Amino acid sequence: MSGHGTPIPMTSRPCGPLKGEANVPGDKSISHRSLILGALSVGETRVTGLLEGEDVLDTAKAMRAFGATVTDHGGGEWSVQGVGVGGFAEPENVIDCGNSGTGVRLIMGAMATSPITATFTGDASLNSRPMGRVTDPLALFGTQTVGRQGGRLPMTLVGAADPVPVRYVVPVPSAQVKSAVLLAGLNTSGQTVVIEKEATRDHTERMLQGFGATLTVEETDEGRVITLDGQPELQAQTIVVPRDPSSAAFPVCAAIITPGSDVLVPNIGLNPTRAGLFTTLKEMGADLTYENMREEGGEPVADLRAKFSPNLKGIAVPPARAASMIDEYPVLSVVASFAEGVTDMQGVKELRVKESDRIDAMAKGLRAAGVQVDEGDDWWKVTGLGHGNVPGGVTVASVLDHRIAMSFMVMGMATQKSMTVDDGSPIATSFPIFETLMGNLGAQLVRDNA
Ligand code: S3P
Repeated sequence: MSGHGTPIPMTSRPCGPLKGEANVPGDKSISHRSLILGALSVGETRVTGLLEGEDVLDTAKAMRAFGATVTDHGGGEWSVQGVGVGGFAEPENVIDCGNSGTGVRLIMGAMATSPITATFTGDASLNSRPMGRVTDPLALFGTQTVGRQGGRLPMTLVGAADPVPVRYVVPVPSAQVKSAVLLAGLNTSGQTVVIEKEATRDHTERMLQGFGATLTVEETDEGRVITLDGQPELQAQTIVVPRDPSSAAFPVCAAIITPGSDVLVPNIGLNPTRAGLFTTLKEMGADLTYENMREEGGEPVADLRAKFSPNLKGIAVPPARAASMIDEYPVLSVVASFAEGVTDMQGVKELRVKESDRIDAMAKGLRAAGVQVDEGDDWWKVTGLGHGNVPGGVTVASVLDHRIAMSFMVMGMATQKSMTVDDGSPIATSFPIFETLMGNLGAQLVRDNA
């Protein structure tokens, strides 16, 4: 699979205790949404703590292409001068969303009910991912699309000039699909209703309410029913982006498996729709504590303290928890390798259509490193070897997937021999400071071509 840059092989050597504070970057999901809702509002939205990873920078570029003024003031401070709901201009060129499924799917939703046409593309990973899950509901509004076979990018969307409101039951647990439909509902008169059977991350709902939209959420027998009144005037906001729990997962898991470690990860967003990994780690016997619990900008936040945990045990992760930790299964499978017994992960089919087929990518790498993995279409099981017993000593493929690359780098901190990924460059999509941050804690990460 080819990406968009030169591959950077990266090795993680077994290291001593990890110690200190890990200031991880801003939340990726909230960063994308800040830029998109800022672009759809009236006035100037100020954003602090924006994640300046490639994925979010691609969304910033896209918002400029649709007519918003997006300015980088330095140090994570950004502003967005919005064009208002229905104010998107037609982009002059193809929109390249790089590696980002969230970017492309949310932007498709945001433009789908404006009378403009836009063509989207991405890197080899994104261009292999299914877009039908978003374009199917957008077609109900009246949006037309032409893409490659199997609903893949590159793809052109012709926005609905006279959109009709939609009532849509999301068929897969996906916050991207839910959000695309809600964003399309913004420029549609009447009420758009989205129903999800399993709760997924709710940043779009929270943020739409924060920007002044009338949006209600009801828990019913049918599921979570979200109703949005169309054509609101969104008011520019000041947004403080909490730090990303999905990025925090890497230093937290590294500390848990590396003997003698004690790491503080401050200011982590602990929205319950995102915090499933931390619950799971505690059930496995991890020494993980929440300090200084508080609320910031409508999101629960805490400082996480993770310490080396000598007595990890494998558990069955409840399938109902999957949506709240969907991006964390790769690094969980690494922790599971150092536990005693089997970690059983069920109901996780969605992992097969992320930046890579994450079950396949992790299973191949873990097996090469000496760990037994069994898998089916929507489940996998890792048989842990216990601390000190995981061989490692191999080079594995990161398949254009930042979370696969970072998971194997975490693994190499506690295996008997080093772990190498063939390409660490995808890490820059979500966690550009990963190497420095982990290095400051005591990790030994080296670029093999440096
Ligand atoms: C995201 C939703 C999830 C997640 C992705 C970010 C979002 O994807 O995996 O990293 O910000 O809405 P799905 O919607 O495909 O579950």
